[in-house]
Amino acid sequence: MRKKIVAGNWKMNKNLQEGVALATELNEVLTADKPNCDVIICTPFIHLATVSNIIDHTVIGLGAENCADKEKGAFTGEVSAEMVKSTGAEYVILGHSERREYYNETPAILKEKVDLALANGLKIIFCIGESLAQREANQQNEVVKSELEGSVFHLTAEQFANVVIAYEPIWAIGTGKTATSDQAEEIHAYIRSIVADKYGKEVADNTSILYGGSCKASNAPELFAKEDIDGGLIGGASLKTPDFKGIIDAWKK
Ligand code: PGA
Repeated sequence: MRKKIVAGNWKMNKNLQEGVALATELNEVLTADKPNCDVIICTPFIHLATVSNIIDHTVIGLGAENCADKEKGAFTGEVSAEMVKSTGAEYVILGHSERREYYNETPAILKEKVDLALANGLKIIFCIGESLAQREANQQNEVVKSELEGSVFHLTAEQFANVVIAYEPIWAIGTGKTATSDQAEEIHAYIRSIVADKYGKEVADNTSILYGGSCKASNAPELFAKEDIDGGLIGGASLKTPDFKGIIDAWKK
């Protein structure tokens, strides 16, 4: 059956020392009180190699927040999927709405990144989700479908097994406004149905679909109780150990 996952997305927060402190604290807390879900932290590139040596990878997985759309070479400032993998990271977030919006990452660019991440043995947390205007126009289903078709539905079923989907309505990210559990469940069930149409029911049943957008300890239990919500991708609340642990513990309720 599919995995239950709580993943943190630190975004552009924490300098190296602060990131090391946070990872050390989280590792202590979670090795003492084992989670009953998979826990992943996705950090800025500069933290990866150091954090990789701090955490117990049997308890906490490590991921990057992005990788390049090119394999290697003269691309000043870029970080390749191979480099990410060489730090000890196992995951990469791709398709986050902030990357799509502020760095003009198109479905075609994301498709390149997806292929390179998989070719280098990384698992992908692939983000999809509609804007407020799209939600108000009731276009959310079309949006998530086209985002999947544009960047991941070219994969074989075997490759797709390395993809975790994160549904993150843009209007709920960092806004304090969460989708209701019913709103989230409705679209998660839809996402699972289109995965089933593409890859069959078994693959769809094994695909973890995370909710992201102002998820916190207070609303996580209700969200995670839904049939098609397999955990969360957590921004703000992943930056403090008690907040993040509170969400992880939602799987114990
Ligand atoms: P948030 O961010 O939890 O701060 O809303 C979620 C995300 O962007 O992954």
